[in-house]
Amino acid sequence: MNTMIKICKRIVGGGMVDNIDKYPFMATLWYLDGSEFSFKSGAVYIGKKFFLTAAHCVKDRDPERTLIRMGSCRINGLPETMRVVRVYKHPQFNTSNLRNDIAIVEVDKEPSDKYFPVRLPCNHLVNHCYNVGDKVIVLGFGKENTRNGSQQHLENLKEVQLRIRRLSDTRYNRRIITQDMFLAGNYENGIVMDACTGDSGGPCIKLIKGNWVVVGIVSWGNGCGKIQYPGVYTKVLSYNTWIRQICGFSPCTNH
Ligand code: ARG
Repeated sequence: MNTMIKICKRIVGGGMVDNIDKYPFMATLWYLDGSEFSFKSGAVYIGKKFFLTAAHCVKDRDPERTLIRMGSCRINGLPETMRVVRVYKHPQFNTSNLRNDIAIVEVDKEPSDKYFPVRLPCNHLVNHCYNVGDKVIVLGFGKENTRNGSQQHLENLKEVQLRIRRLSDTRYNRRIITQDMFLAGNYENGIVMDACTGDSGGPCIKLIKGNWVVVGIVSWGNGCGKIQYPGVYTKVLSYNTWIRQICGFSPCTNH
């Protein structure tokens, strides 16, 4: 999670998550790197044996060399490990403009009961999900700034509260940001809040009628923590039908 800051390194509106029970659906993706698995990106549990992540996180990867881990806010203490059996990268994922940056990961066994899934947005929630100014939360083990090249992730899960931003209030070229993406960022007391490298694939969630709903997947950004360039997220609602078809969920629950 980034807070790229000109003035100081303090995080406003974001902080460490100290109990994973708050976000029991938060998951991570790991790849075999030499003889060890290493952390690659975020993911989120959506039910049965299925997780969502970003397509750019799974491209060119062999499922056999991939794990999903979850169950703690400490990256080195994730107790639940599952092997990936299949990856469904969105068929229209485009590596050059990152359109349709979403993938479904199927694992070998369901996580235990305590890891209940996040809700998927379904069509009737459309008016609650993506309104400019709405508060959302992003979760991740990603970096805190674009410097510190070698440090790839944090030891502890972080959360940061962002707001949905209007495209015309940013400097992104409007042809690049499609209907299936949205922007989120925040600025308080001289500090820009954003996601950053390593947060990709992780969830952007919103509390709707008492339930956490995964409205976005961390996808990309122009650098990190630049006020005119907020983070770009995959709009999960746009992929509702595709996700439900693959996972076999009914139209408005995750079962
Ligand atoms: N693509 C990055 C990753 O692979 C995530 C970037 C998100 N950037 C941002 N400024 N919100 O981890």
